[in-house]
Amino acid sequence: MRVLLISDIHSNLEALAAALAAAPAHDLVINLGDVVGYGATPNEVIDRARGLGKYFVRGNHDKAAAGLMDLREFNPVAALAAIWTTEHLTPENLEWLRSLPQGPIQVPEVAEVQFVHGSPLDEDEYVVTARDALEPLLISNVPLTFFGHSHVQGAFSSNPRDGGAPVRPIYRSVGKAESSEWALERGTHYLINPGSIGQPRDGDWRAAFALFDSDDYSITFHRVPYDLKKAQDRILAANLPQRLATRLATGR
Ligand SMILES: [Fe+2]
Repeated sequence: MRVLLISDIHSNLEALAAALAAAPAHDLVINLGDVVGYGATPNEVIDRARGLGKYFVRGNHDKAAAGLMDLREFNPVAALAAIWTTEHLTPENLEWLRSLPQGPIQVPEVAEVQFVHGSPLDEDEYVVTARDALEPLLISNVPLTFFGHSHVQGAFSSNPRDGGAPVRPIYRSVGKAESSEWALERGTHYLINPGSIGQPRDGDWRAAFALFDSDDYSITFHRVPYDLKKAQDRILAANLPQRLATRLATGR
């Protein structure tokens, strides 16, 4: 089973379209949340994402736009974007966002794998450092967890040989489509983040996603350039905070 993992699209239609155009053949799509928030194309992104399949976990920005979270937990820019998103969503898409399940979820097509937005212990928790990853790695009863939320592509492993530090894919360019394959080992526990499609924060502006092959037992990380200018122009034209447009260029 080849599973396309997408996360943190954040209403960036241009990035999503480029990622899907570059995605290798797959049998299943799993969306790890934050479909909306920050960007200017929430309805277009929801429509496209819903057409890819039925498996989603909700993100904190999905909850915020759906009115399921107190906006005081957000910084002012994120809160403004959430209010803008709620105001611009169609009633049907708003209802769909409200109905998204809380992670972790598991799916019948892939055994011993779970999917969550933040951490398997708390959907809103950030897994950024090896220390953050330690407890979920140790207590998970499934070996493989796919997560999003941090917008940083990479993985954590319970195998001491991986050094405890985050595993980050290595790329050669800054502006071309590239991929980086990593063989997984049975018996090791992993937390793996496919990266963010619509607002990467790992210093690489390209849209990030990943493909998990359950037969090969491997993960392939991908980066793909997209029409950055168009996504930025849409954010500025929507009168969303300017910072949401400028940060896309630096991947921060
Ligand atoms: Fe996010």
